[in-house]
Amino acid sequence: MERTLVIIKPDGVQRGLIGDILSRLERRGLKLVGMKLMAISDELAHRHYGVHEGKPFFDSLIRYITSAPVVVMVWEGPEAIALVRRTMGTTNPQEAAPGTIRADLGVDIERNLIHGSDGVETAQKEISLFFAPEELVDWERSTDRWITR
Ligand code: RTP
Ligand code: MG
Repeated sequence: MERTLVIIKPDGVQRGLIGDILSRLERRGLKLVGMKLMAISDELAHRHYGVHEGKPFFDSLIRYITSAPVVVMVWEGPEAIALVRRTMGTTNPQEAAPGTIRADLGVDIERNLIHGSDGVETAQKEISLFFAPEELVDWERSTDRWITR
């Protein structure tokens, strides 16, 4: 089992797409283990996207992610990290495969609606940046055996 951090970015919240994005991950069979609506501070944005510091789009990325509330979530499932990334689509919505969140709902690389962790280590680091351990819920889902063997 893996856990991954997902953020519905400010454009997703402003455009009323929280339900649509949530629903796609939920219907896929992933299990929600943490969720909150919050504003990302400048400091948190720098820690979360620190790897991009120095790139031409960095300042604009920080302005974007701190511009309005976001929904942060932790989803759990087998291969959850890669599975979420494939459900999101590639970074640029113009190149993303049809059926993915970014392709179906977006047109601009800097308004691409959703973040998902890109590896096991980054997932652990990002989850601990956004959630205290007691905010994550271990729970049994009665449909689990119909989703995984
Ligand atoms: P994310 O981290 O948000 O899940 O996105 P990602 O892995 O698909 O893409 P990444 O390379 O990590 O870039 C982080 C975010 O920065 C913005 N970006 N803008 N203008 C540009 O060329 C450019 N490249 C990246 C996007 O918002 C991207 O999601
Ligand atoms: Mg990334």
